[in-house]
Amino acid sequence: MSQPKVSLYYKNVTAERIGAEHGISDAQFETLAQKTVAAVEKVNRDRRDGKTPYRDLPTNEAYPRSAKEVAAELKGKCEVFVVLGIGGSALGNIALQTALNPYMYNVDPAQRKGPQFFVFDNVDPVQFGSFLDWIGDRLDTTYFNVISKSGQTAETAAQFLIIRRMLLEKYGPAGAKEHIIATTDTSSGTMRKITDAEGYRSLVVPDGVGGRFSVLSPVGLLSAAVCGIDIDALLAGARAMDARVSGSDLRENPAAMNAAIQWHYYQRGKNISVMMPYAYALKDLADWYRQLWAESLGKARDCSGAEVFVGPTPVKALGATDQHSQVQLYREGPNDKVFTFLETKTFQRDVEIAASPESAPELKYLAGKPMSTLLNAEKLATEYALFKMDHRPCLTVLFDDISAATIGQFLYLYEVTTSIAGALFNIDAYDQPAVELGKKATFALMGRQGFEDVAGEIGPYRALDEDFLV
Ligand code: PA5
Repeated sequence: MSQPKVSLYYKNVTAERIGAEHGISDAQFETLAQKTVAAVEKVNRDRRDGKTPYRDLPTNEAYPRSAKEVAAELKGKCEVFVVLGIGGSALGNIALQTALNPYMYNVDPAQRKGPQFFVFDNVDPVQFGSFLDWIGDRLDTTYFNVISKSGQTAETAAQFLIIRRMLLEKYGPAGAKEHIIATTDTSSGTMRKITDAEGYRSLVVPDGVGGRFSVLSPVGLLSAAVCGIDIDALLAGARAMDARVSGSDLRENPAAMNAAIQWHYYQRGKNISVMMPYAYALKDLADWYRQLWAESLGKARDCSGAEVFVGPTPVKALGATDQHSQVQLYREGPNDKVFTFLETKTFQRDVEIAASPESAPELKYLAGKPMSTLLNAEKLATEYALFKMDHRPCLTVLFDDISAATIGQFLYLYEVTTSIAGALFNIDAYDQPAVELGKKATFALMGRQGFEDVAGEIGPYRALDEDFLV
């Protein structure tokens, strides 16, 4: 049986559709096709040279096996599963859960195949405190997956320390360790050190795989497996996409086409890239994409060390909700954006709209129609207005359905799109020096030893200048 598919529809960026000023002409596609060949070759070479091990996650057998083993062990005894992590250690988990489990998963036991599931990716005391107030005796059946490659990330470390103390106070060291599963570096780092010292079960963040490229590793696979998501189908989807994104023919390679179009528009002042899913299930994929795109492509220097300050700004929106919030700007504001709609041909279920009262014949057009018809009509209506009336470039990522197979395809499509875009921009898509600096400044402000110099530099900015408070 053939897999449901994810495809990229790009007709609504062509000059034929949106006019010569904003659209891409046949000649420009030809130029892009030539330029992209070298970018795809570089990305393929990086893979062969072992520089991008994320590319081989879909074929790794040990990682899904390790996730399934832990999931099987927790089955029947785990009623609450909590991920502690941030950035690449959290966003993939959230995206998979929203995409592949029902909206009322946490509230309705009949709608879930696993434990209740929470991801904490912040250090907000009110949010975390509310969880601590709620957990009470549920702690007995709660398991914590602390995900941190380094173990030094202040937010994850703070959450972990609070949970660890709570577990130690209630169960002592031998009992506490049963409630913690660490996903961390194979051999080095603070979390690896703690894991080995305290005897936690652990899964690996594979060497050379950055957080934002790690969703198909144990980082994303464990919570998915625990919550009943078919991780084999997810990885099969990624493998199917792998076969489509390695060739150098632009018109056959959706990642190359996507990257080339985004790059083309960035060169022409359209430096905002809006992702707008028309399905609630796909909403957090836009959040995941936002990190992937921003952290990978926002760079001060190119590969030769020259200052470039490059990077498209990713923006997430949700259809139809944000039609009533953002679309006024999208249509009448500056023509500086590329729009990517996510659309599914079929929804897992549908709801029929009920009849209108006699007093409101103007609502009769809705009666008896499936809700999905309305949602997809709104997508086309918005897209039509943008490309036809306002000459704004619109892409659509079209899902045959929303299933583990198509989500796996989407994740891999966007990871490779990011790699190819990185090659087109001639930047290193895999580092994040600016994020690292922020981490160091936090250490300094929190009084960590060894960061006194940074603390001295930031010190004067701690106090607000009252003259500038209005
Ligand atoms: O994508 C990334 O590399 C980052 O977002 C990291 O995932 C994030 O900073 C967390 O790092 P760590 O896993 O070391 O706690």
